[in-house]
Amino acid sequence: LIEQDLRGEKILVTAGPTREPLDPARFLGNRSSGKMGYALATAARRRGGDVILVSGPTALVAPHGVETIRVNTAEEMYARVMENASAADIIVKSAAVADFRPENYVEQKVKKEGASMSLGLARNPDILFELGKGRRADQLLVGFAAESENIVDHGRSKLERKKLDMIAVNDISSAQTGFESDTNQLFVITEDGVVTLPLTTKNHTANLLLDQMVKHKQDRVL
Ligand code: PMT
Repeated sequence: LIEQDLRGEKILVTAGPTREPLDPARFLGNRSSGKMGYALATAARRRGGDVILVSGPTALVAPHGVETIRVNTAEEMYARVMENASAADIIVKSAAVADFRPENYVEQKVKKEGASMSLGLARNPDILFELGKGRRADQLLVGFAAESENIVDHGRSKLERKKLDMIAVNDISSAQTGFESDTNQLFVITEDGVVTLPLTTKNHTANLLLDQMVKHKQDRVL
């Protein structure tokens, strides 16, 4: 029997990559498969949560019982997240959002001319930063960070800058953690310190991270 410790909680999860179109054939993207975010949405639902998943393009099936909203670009993800943010008790941002998009979308497929070409990029909104600015005090705001060096230091500075309650940092330089793998290891940072979770499946990791979130909420009430 699964403990229903998230019953009554409205939980907004983001997952997957974003795709930033360049022309009708091409986009800028990243290696996120969506596995980590879908595992979180599935686990939160099984624990009784009322879950909305905003997902970039992935090959995964929408989790049972979860309202799944599919988007392509960072700007679309920003709009859908903002529509659903104020009602959420818990927001977990596991999506890998592109920081930049091609400055100009080219209506016709770009032809190869010359030996090189350059691409102008424009900054995308930082969804998590905006959520931190407009957050309800009673909301639990959880970010992720994909890092390849000085993992805990970089995570802690994102926790502070984006006004988060918690950030889960994963090492993307290992084949067993971060992007695409079926396993992960998270360093969970709050203002109280760092909890190192074991290297395990993404499904188990999702439940361990939810445990940390439930505990943090309880500690805040006490
Ligand atoms: O999908 P998988 O293959 O299972 O891989 C999982 C994962 C590696 C994608 C995931 O565990 C993870 O680390 N997700 C966050 C990846 C990321 O974009 O990290 P970041 O350090 O660039 O961003 C920090 C945080 O800000 C993230 O919560 C991100 O969602 C958010 N962000 C970033 C940029 C932006 N424009 N808007 C954002 O909201």
